[in-house]
Amino acid sequence: MTGRQYEETDVLERADAAFAEAMADALDVREHETGNHSRRVACHTLVLARRFISDPNRLRHIYWGALMHDIGKIGVPESILLKPGALNEAEWEVMRTHPEKGHRIIAQIPGMADAAEIVLSHQERFDGSGYPRGLHDEQIHLGARLLAVIDTLDAITSDRPYRKGRSFDHARDEIAGMSGKQFDPQAVEAFMAEETTLRKMVEDMCMQSHDPAILPNTRSIS
Ligand SMILES: [Fe+2]
Repeated sequence: MTGRQYEETDVLERADAAFAEAMADALDVREHETGNHSRRVACHTLVLARRFISDPNRLRHIYWGALMHDIGKIGVPESILLKPGALNEAEWEVMRTHPEKGHRIIAQIPGMADAAEIVLSHQERFDGSGYPRGLHDEQIHLGARLLAVIDTLDAITSDRPYRKGRSFDHARDEIAGMSGKQFDPQAVEAFMAEETTLRKMVEDMCMQSHDPAILPNTRSIS
């Protein structure tokens, strides 16, 4: 590629990255989420993904998919999204539409097919008991299998209006217990192997907006 082409690719990649970050922010605002849930989940998913993938482009798409995984919740009524108590069955039915709603949004964007597939698959379970398609094993995008573990880690360790976040150890035990059921055993193994890094990141609440190693500053290439 020529220097000019690098510059154009750089601009497009930065536009995609800015778009993904803005979408995640929009959802966090709507959910009254002040802790950067989407970014944390995306950062932590990358820690696992790097154990399987070295191609920065594939990693970038996994990051974007993880960052925007719940974007379809933008289409869920506020009375359900922000309900303080437990959802009833009818409300759950609406909530369970969010992967497809998110997929419809992201799949329209050129070059985001991988991220859109992760958005669509993030509620699937390794044993086939998830939704919306009831996929199992490797039918589920690797990024979505890794994200599923990390989303659970974040849900358990984050504070909620009605309860304090629980410990990393508590999350680790729950995740280990779901290996081969909700979670891909390989994803759980990667989680255990990265325990020290993840524990530290959870403590720091991973406030990084993106990882410079994954979204390199290509301006330096000419
Ligand atoms: Fe979700």
